[in-house]
Formats: sequence, structure tokens, C-alpha cells
Amino acid sequence: MINMERNLLITGGAGFIGSHVVRLFVNNYPQYRIINLDALTYAGNLENLRDIENAPNYQFIKGDITDEGFINQLFKDHSIDGVIHLAAESHVDRSIMDPLAFVRTNVLGTGVLLNAARNYWKDMEGKRFYHVSTDEVFGSLGETGFFTEETPYDPRSPYSASKASSDHLVKAYFHTYNMPVVISNCSNNYGSHHFPEKLIPLMINNILHKKPLPVYGKGENVRDWLWVEDHARAIDVIFHKGVIGETYNVGGFNEWKNLDLVHLLCKIMDEKLGRQPGESAKLITYVKDRAGHDLRYAIDASKLNKKLGWKPSLQFEEGLEKTVQWYLENQDWVQHITSGAYQEYYNHQYNVR
Ligand code: NAD
Ligand code: TYD
Repeated sequence: MINMERNLLITGGAGFIGSHVVRLFVNNYPQYRIINLDALTYAGNLENLRDIENAPNYQFIKGDITDEGFINQLFKDHSIDGVIHLAAESHVDRSIMDPLAFVRTNVLGTGVLLNAARNYWKDMEGKRFYHVSTDEVFGSLGETGFFTEETPYDPRSPYSASKASSDHLVKAYFHTYNMPVVISNCSNNYGSHHFPEKLIPLMINNILHKKPLPVYGKGENVRDWLWVEDHARAIDVIFHKGVIGETYNVGGFNEWKNLDLVHLLCKIMDEKLGRQPGESAKLITYVKDRAGHDLRYAIDASKLNKKLGWKPSLQFEEGLEKTVQWYLENQDWVQHITSGAYQEYYNHQYNVR
């Protein structure tokens, strides 16, 4: 299967994870034609893909996954026979402000893509529809335990509810139309090209510019962090070897309380920027908690490890150090992506007057 030619549609390829997935597929599979479809919302940025934009097996198309006529035509025009679907509204805080945008893109958009595949794929042989999803569909854990593939869905934010709905649609197309689907549910990613509204890049940016470090509540919420390039590798393995109709959990076996993580970032950056030990940590500011803030996420990724041989490659401290270094060396990227509407969002979210 890996050596055959393919016309592979990757949605959301100009975003954080999508750009790492596009790069990996363009470099590893010269025999595939890779079409990156992205609406270039505030989160999409073609600068993420400058290094591969002229590759002969790569094409970018600007478009919206909720546009049914356009998506149907795209499947025909490009003879699409595989989909890796990442396009989404992805930020929980924004989903609290504007839930319907998440229903539109994440639920309707996924439905439109599935239906275009159903219409176009008369013969399902050799086809594959891969939905990249989140562990947040499982809800919130207490102090102990892990999410497995059998954990019942219990989403609590508009973001996670929209992703759970789209997972259910994907499963419904498998059961009803025999669509060859596969789903993965991954924990929090970190790494280069991460939009600075999310915890790690936001803190890096604020530490650098000596701005307050807004920790929600008491900073006791726990997330399981995974290096984005390890996620991209997992997507490669699952796309090619995952069993049709199954789901795979992807995680870093790497739980951190938010406050501990922010302290670690402060320490790394104090060293890199030649500041006094403890200087950046003075910027930590406790702010109003997120509404419905999930306490803890933790993934049991042993199925993916045992069945498909994947495991994370990078220690967290090393990955975080590389990430900080990338942001320090790519301040132009940060400038470009955060200019315009982002400042308005930031001021509103963090009550900056
Ligand atoms: P992101 O916000 O960085 O990127 C999303 C991309 O989708 C952007 O390029 C944006 O322009 C595009 N997009 C948005 N709406 C669109 C539309 N209507 N039509 C076409 N393109 C559209 O998100 P990300 O963090 O890279 O996440 C990618 C996927 O992975 C999402 O489906 C997300 O739910 C999932 N996921 C993310 C994480 C994480 O930690 N970031 C973890 C697990 C799963
Ligand atoms: P985030 O990066 O938004 O990812 P998610 O909500 O999808 O897990 O947030 C990670 C954690 O960091 C989450 O518990 C909320 C917290 N957080 C803060 O404390 N301050 C912030 O400014 C942000 C953006 C997040």
C-alpha cells in the first residue's frame, strides 16, 4: 500500500499539526500527489510550508471544507483516494466565545468531506478517510486513570463536543456506508509553528517580552504533552497500517501540571536569555479560570505501541528546549501570525486595556 500512487487530500495543512503532517508526507512519499486544502483562517499560515512549497508532489488549494459544491468538485478534479482530515477550529477558549463557529467547521465540515468521499468513492477498495481527533472527546479525568480506546465519550467544551460529534459522524459512515475510516485521538501537542494562543507558545512569547504569564485558576490542571513531529509520525503509521474502523489513542506518557510546566519554561528561558534564576517566574499571574475547565487528560497509547510499533521519540525537556529555541529564532513568524485580529482576541481574553 505504501508504494502505490495516491491522490491524498490533507485538510488543514497550513495549521500547526497539519503543516508537520504535510511536510512529512511530501518528503517521505514522493509517489503521492499531496493536496493541502486550507481556508487560511487566522490559524492557517503558508509560511509554515515555505521549505516544501515547490516540491513536485505538492499542491496548495485555498478553500473551505463547509463548501459542499466546492468539495465535491475537488474530489472529482483531483481523483482523491485518501483523506487525512485535520482542518478544524482548534482552540477551547475561542469555542467558549463562539461555539457555532466550531459546530460549522468541525461538525458540518467533517460531514461535507465524508459525504463527498461517499459520493465519489463508488468503490471503497484502497480508499481511506482518516480523521485526526483529540483526547478531549473523553472528557476530564480525576487524579488517576487514563483514557483508552474504550473510554466512553464525555465531551465538556464546545470544542470537544464538536470533535466528538465529528468522530461519531466518521464512525457512522463506517457502519452505514462501509467507508474505510480510521480515527486517532491525540493528547496536547507542542513544537514549532504552534499558534501563540495556546499555552506553551503563549507563555514563551510572554516570557520573552516580559508580559504577565496568565495561569488559569490555580494552575493545577494536567495535560499530557506530545512533540508534534511524533504525532505526525503516528499519523503516518496509522494512515498506512491502522485497521479500518478502529481508533487509536496517541499520547506522550508525559503529564504536567500547568504551573509546573510554566515554571520549567521560565527556567529554560532564564538560562537562554541570560536572566537571573527566578526572574521570569515573577511574571506568573493567576487569572480567572476557564469555564468548565477539564482537570486532567492522560492518554494510554499502548494499543498504538503494541499493534503498530509507535512510541514518542523525544524527552519533554529536550523538546521544550528545541521549541523555545525555534520561537527565539522565528520572531518574524510570530509577528506575522499575531498581527491583525489576534491582538483583539488577546486583549479580550486576557482583559488587557
Ligand atoms: P490549527 O488551528 O493550528 O490549524 C487548523 C487549520 O485548519 C488552519 O490552517 C486553518 O486555516 C484550517 N481551517 C480552519 N477552518 C477551516 C475550514 N472551514 N476549511 C478549511 N480549512 C480550515 O489546529 P491544530 O492544532 O494544528 O490541530 C489540527 C487538528 O488536530 C484539529 O482537527 C485538532 O482538533 C486536532 N488535534 C489538535 C491537538 C493539539 O494539541 N493542537 C491535539 C489533538 C488533536
Ligand atoms: P491549551 O493550550 O488551550 O490547550 P487545551 O485547552 O486544548 O488543553 O491549554 C492548555 C492548558 O493550559 C489548559 O489547562 C488551559 C491552560 N491555559 C492557561 O492556564 N493559560 C492560558 O493562557 C492558556 C491559553 C491555557
